Amino acid sequence: MGSFKGRSIISLRDMSASDLVQIVETAGRVKRGEVGGFLAGRTVAVMFFEPSTRTRLSFESAVLHSGGSIFGFASSDSSSQSKGESFADTVRTVMGYCDALVIRHPVEGAARLASELSTVPVINAGDGANQHPTQTFLDLFTMHEAVGRLEGLHVGLLGDLRYGRTVHSLAMAMSMFGSRLTLVSPPSLRMPEQFKAELSNSGIPFREVQQPEEAGTDMDFLYVTRIQRERFVDPQEYEAVAHCYRVTAETVSNLGGKVKIMHPLPRVDEIAEEVDGLPNALYFKQAHNGIPVRQALLGLITGGLD
Ligand code: NCD
Repeated sequence: MGSFKGRSIISLRDMSASDLVQIVETAGRVKRGEVGGFLAGRTVAVMFFEPSTRTRLSFESAVLHSGGSIFGFASSDSSSQSKGESFADTVRTVMGYCDALVIRHPVEGAARLASELSTVPVINAGDGANQHPTQTFLDLFTMHEAVGRLEGLHVGLLGDLRYGRTVHSLAMAMSMFGSRLTLVSPPSLRMPEQFKAELSNSGIPFREVQQPEEAGTDMDFLYVTRIQRERFVDPQEYEAVAHCYRVTAETVSNLGGKVKIMHPLPRVDEIAEEVDGLPNALYFKQAHNGIPVRQALLGLITGGLD
């Protein structure tokens, strides 16, 4: 097992399959209550320059559950960025107050820049339309919990594959486990060429379609995403694709009835509420798994767990 101690978590490109397995296994130990209190005496700072509910609050809850302390800000309005301070100076300051820094920022590459400046490990909690690695860790944990394995799964990714950072990170992770991917989106929201080239290089099969039913009936997971309104430059372009998908109980049945439905949340209208009550719906369980997974990750990078 590689050591996580002191390591920044910025992109799936920096990670191996065994790193991902280690995070999933460690999160399992945390969830089963086999380890606890491992962040005692450690302090984590959160710097969020973009809105968040689950990511920020689950990091906060994770730290408190493991005996650590956490502080930070939830928007740039409440930081000195609103007085004109540079991002770099904010990082150089806050790194002196904590043992790990969790950053969400609208600009792609912001977390990488922070990790180059920082003397403490940085965790990327989402950088623009690029990557969201900790979401992928909890997605993998949830998949493993549901079907007992990560190898050889058929996964559908549906919705905004162009701007959705969660699906960019997840696709890279799945490529390390011999998955088959079906990419379901309108033509204008297909996965960017750069990510598709990486999937091709990893040798995993993937297909691009416009409707989930084109994936057949052997899909293990359908990972649904919101159209990322805030990333569109042209509001009319957004309106043209808004509401283009709605997963219903009928969709689940058309897909063979066994497919598990996942979503990083927040949901707008792309999954009908009637799906929530089906045994197929994993998305709230998935959100709650953010706690043990983020506990495990923080434990590993601060050296409280190995
Ligand atoms: C996602 C994000 O911020 O990228 N949310 C999350 O962290 N669970 C997905 C989204 O905003 O659509």
